[in-house]
Amino acid sequence: MIILEDKKIVSSKFHIENSHTLSVAKEHGTYSSIERLFTLSSEEIIAIIKESHLRGKGGGGAPAGNKWALMPLGELKPSFLAVNCDESEPGTFKDREIISKDPHLLIEGIICTCFAIKSHTAYIYVRGEYKEFSNILQSAIDEAYEAGYLGENIFNKGYKLDVIVHRGAGAYICGEKSALLESLEGKRGHPRVKPHQQECEWYFDNPTLVNNVETIASVPFIVKNGADAYKEFGTSSSPGTLLFAMSGHVNKPGVYESEFGICMMDYINHYGGGIKNGKKLKAIIPGGASTKILTADEVGLAKLDYETMKALGSSLGTGGMIVMDEDTNMVEALKNLLEFYHHESCGQCTPCREGTGWVDTIMQNLLDGVARGEDIEKILEISKTMNGQTICVFAPAVSDVIDGFITKFRSEFESYVREDLT
Ligand SMILES: Cc1cc2nc3c(=O)[nH]c(=O)nc-3n(C[C@H](O)[C@H](O)[C@H](O)COP(=O)(O)O)c2cc1C
Ligand code: SF4
Repeated sequence: MIILEDKKIVSSKFHIENSHTLSVAKEHGTYSSIERLFTLSSEEIIAIIKESHLRGKGGGGAPAGNKWALMPLGELKPSFLAVNCDESEPGTFKDREIISKDPHLLIEGIICTCFAIKSHTAYIYVRGEYKEFSNILQSAIDEAYEAGYLGENIFNKGYKLDVIVHRGAGAYICGEKSALLESLEGKRGHPRVKPHQQECEWYFDNPTLVNNVETIASVPFIVKNGADAYKEFGTSSSPGTLLFAMSGHVNKPGVYESEFGICMMDYINHYGGGIKNGKKLKAIIPGGASTKILTADEVGLAKLDYETMKALGSSLGTGGMIVMDEDTNMVEALKNLLEFYHHESCGQCTPCREGTGWVDTIMQNLLDGVARGEDIEKILEISKTMNGQTICVFAPAVSDVIDGFITKFRSEFESYVREDLT
């Protein structure tokens, strides 16, 4: 087995007792980027983030610097930062580690980001179910206000910054950035129709940047140490690290930060202690439930970077790996996911609203022993209609999930079919 180096950017304090408190966080280096931050202009900070090739860690992997550069810096209108901590994707549970084990790192990242985009207000949109984690985050924010790190005149630098925690109400779709902003505006969390040209998001008609918690928590390292230091981690096209979350049939499920580019199997053996009970690996969903499943053979070829995962027809997503051993029933696993997607579709687009419902129903028929052979083709046909024009990528992602399970494990689905039914 290859021994991996433990290289950490966002999780270096996770193991320290009381790491969520200001005194312990400060003792271990949090807020040390602030001194350099205030010597730089907005344009310089954005250039450093661009140069670092930091990619968004909420699932899409979009270059963060390019998004920041879309924010209008000279406008009279106020601008906003919305930090995405909705984290409802099954198999993904990394952001809650940051807000509960090193919330001051996130606050430091928010200060750096807001100063760069000239914003004086940041919202942190926290998944509704994360009450306990959200309370820890709020205590850290309160401490930061008390210390003068947030508020009217932060660090005595003449800059005003407020940070507000907003808890969602438990809808998966509110993690999609435009649905998140609709929800923040007090409306139903429906994704917005996107413009064709690249532009920033809007909150009450004001320019707004939406970034994932981990993306923002990576910023202080880059501001303090420079773009080249960040690029020393990972690969040339996927620099840096990711907090991978590992669940399912492994001996030590959990969240472990690793640099990009390492072999998936080395990661699982090193951090996860291998497959549970000495069983064989059957498959892995690599980046949160909405990424295409990989067979054990494909996992053998997989490296944890954006390019390799794309070449394998899947994606790195959020890095939330769901590991399945040889005994996993793929029909039950897909049914479980479809129930979730059916429940969580926001219902605006017919292919998504109806498609998730129909596939869920047919999957139940398969499990109940009342489906015919043609029903498998029917599922694939419905799934194709979901991969067309929809307002957000929820439906195309679900289509990919269905396609992956059925094409890669078709014989299991066929074993449930009843040809004797009239
Ligand atoms: C259905 C759906 C759910 C999403 N859920 C989340 C989420 O929980 N957290 C998150 O950071 N991004 C989520 N995203 C991605 C966001 O829309 C957005 O791209 C991201 O927050 C941008 O931050 P990043 O560039 O730092 O990754 C979701 C996207 C979709 C389509
Ligand atoms: S694809 Fe689905 S979740 Fe996305 S907007 Fe359409 S109905 Fe809503």
